[in-house]
Amino acid sequence: MKKLFYILLVTGFFIGITSCEGKEPAGGQSQTETPENGGEDDGDGDENGNNNPENPNPATGDILVVYYSYTNNTHTIVTDLLTQIEADVVRIEPADKGLDYAANNYAIGSALIVAIRENPNDASSYPAIDPVEVELENYATVIVAAPLWWSNMAAPLQTFLFHHGNEMAGKNIGLFVSSASSGISGVEADARRLIPEGNFLTPSLWIRSSQTSNCHAMTTEWLENTGLIE
Ligand SMILES: Cc1cc2nc3c(=O)[nH]c(=O)nc-3n(C[C@H](O)[C@H](O)[C@H](O)COP(=O)(O)O)c2cc1C
Repeated sequence: MKKLFYILLVTGFFIGITSCEGKEPAGGQSQTETPENGGEDDGDGDENGNNNPENPNPATGDILVVYYSYTNNTHTIVTDLLTQIEADVVRIEPADKGLDYAANNYAIGSALIVAIRENPNDASSYPAIDPVEVELENYATVIVAAPLWWSNMAAPLQTFLFHHGNEMAGKNIGLFVSSASSGISGVEADARRLIPEGNFLTPSLWIRSSQTSNCHAMTTEWLENTGLIE
């Protein structure tokens, strides 16, 4: 019998959104697409080798959902997902509180992503997050739910995976990404870099911010396609 618990590391203004309704960060996210790889409509993951025709059968074994959400779109989608599967949940929270990642044309978020891009193997490149208590050995499948920042995975979630990705070796990894408009291949590449031995379920799920309020049909189809529900 699977257990069900919900770890909220920080609540603050994030609490309270339980329906499939999303919020947008101010300023227009599409402006944050980067010249080198932002904005392309490439959410199928081909270039990341994410095309295994056969998913294993991940319907057995416990599921963990690990996610970060700044403006609660990803949180809303996770909340919808949890109406369909039984899973434990970890929400990652940055150690630095109250930062406005979208201010000044996303200056802080941009700086965090640039630091990781420049030195991805250096722990000091990753922003500190609140301590996370999770025993990954208990799970057969980990669903990673990520906002897209500058065509990469949001920095705080990268921090968690940098420290715990190796513990996910051999586990089924489901990835879904929330972005305003940019394709998700960069986030898929981050996930594969940070979980090098993960058994990635295909396809990844890409939900645009504008689709958040109608995410249910998309999450259901994705759960079926990846074998997470019958
Ligand atoms: C720092 C930052 C950078 C972003 N960069 C992009 C981008 O390059 N392309 C894009 O389509 N959306 C971008 N977005 C928008 C988010 O991907 C989008 O709003 C997403 O739904 C946020 O998920 P959340 O509400 O769970 O945090 C960015 C948002 C932030 C805060």
